Amino acid sequence: MTVDSREWRLIARPHGEPEPADFELATVTPPDPAPGQVLVRNDWLSVDPYMRGRMNDVESYIPPFGLGEAMTGGAVGTVIASAADTVPVGAVVSHFYGWREYAVLDAAAVQVVNTEIAPAQAYLGVLGTTGITAYAGLTEVAPVKPGDVVFISGAAGAVGSIAGQVAKRLGAAKVIGSAGGPAKTARLLEEFGFDHAIDYRAGDLVGQLSAAAPEGIDVYFDNVGGDHLDAALRTMNLRGRIALCGAISVYNDTEPAPGPSSLPLAIGKRITLRGMNVGDHLHQAPEWIGKAAGWLAEGALHAEETVVDGIDQALDAFTAMMSGANTGKMLVRLPHNG
Ligand SMILES: NC(=O)c1ccc[n+]([C@@H]2O[C@H](COP(=O)([O-])OP(=O)(O)OC[C@H]3O[C@@H](n4cnc5c(N)ncnc54)[C@H](OP(=O)(O)O)[C@@H]3O)[C@@H](O)[C@H]2O)c1
Repeated sequence: MTVDSREWRLIARPHGEPEPADFELATVTPPDPAPGQVLVRNDWLSVDPYMRGRMNDVESYIPPFGLGEAMTGGAVGTVIASAADTVPVGAVVSHFYGWREYAVLDAAAVQVVNTEIAPAQAYLGVLGTTGITAYAGLTEVAPVKPGDVVFISGAAGAVGSIAGQVAKRLGAAKVIGSAGGPAKTARLLEEFGFDHAIDYRAGDLVGQLSAAAPEGIDVYFDNVGGDHLDAALRTMNLRGRIALCGAISVYNDTEPAPGPSSLPLAIGKRITLRGMNVGDHLHQAPEWIGKAAGWLAEGALHAEETVVDGIDQALDAFTAMMSGANTGKMLVRLPHNG
């Protein structure tokens, strides 16, 4: 089967915010699958904040995108040709060869997903690394105990919106979320079950946080870094726990951001700050998927998606997500006409 496949390539390293000129959308013709391989038609692509780091030429836990090469990232798709006994035509699979329409992959590089318990794209969001990050962050990294006061930044986003609901499930007495703008803070209260919502764009983060939690914060799930981390350090209780999950406020910075000026407070307050990488917590995937799929079926877990259509829109979807256009998981849907 011969198909043409469009794929996004990084062609220049962005300085600050990524520009369209840093990328190109190229067309290739993937080869037929060799023995042991499958041809996957991607149906959904994930765009994620960590991809910004991969656009820089810096050493990290994951290599940078190569210049002139197709970018990679989470995707789910349908097997349309197979030369592998283990993965038949028609199987819906998740894999790491997103940012393109079609991919020829070794069978070992794809994971067949169960679309009877949730739609395929859920494996890029609530049932994928997004959900596992939220769950692991609040169970293994900065464990929530019944009665805790929990603060979550980036709370209307993919990880944050699930984390708020997980915190409640774990018995938190109060869950506070921060997000950008009144529309998002309203949704935190009305749809995602937060007890208090802070609009960080309105300023005075410390004042807003102290007003929401006069008793102090026990657990902070940090998606944002910068001022949010500083405000959390100032309002944390003795022996508070902080999961350092992300620092999206600095991902486009061109100079190193100063550290939080309130960090010394962590000494007297005996605060634990622990960085996390979801890759260290994939052992929790079966447990999380089992729980989350059940809650989704009962309507007891709200997993929002913001969907953008078309491979040509994938770059815009990424930059829009970075500036807050999404609520819940930002996804790119690839329509296939036959
Ligand atoms: N450690 C890990 O293993 C791991 C795994 C997954 C994700 N993460 C991290 O978790 C965080 C959330 O990821 P996600 O996939 O769930 O993305 P997301 O929250 O769905 O999308 C990013 C959100 O960041 C917010 N944002 C952008 N600039 C900001 C700023 N200057 N200050 C405050 N908020 C800002 C925007 O929401 P507003 O409209 O509210 O500003 C935007 O919607 C990211 O930092 C990501 O790197 C880490």
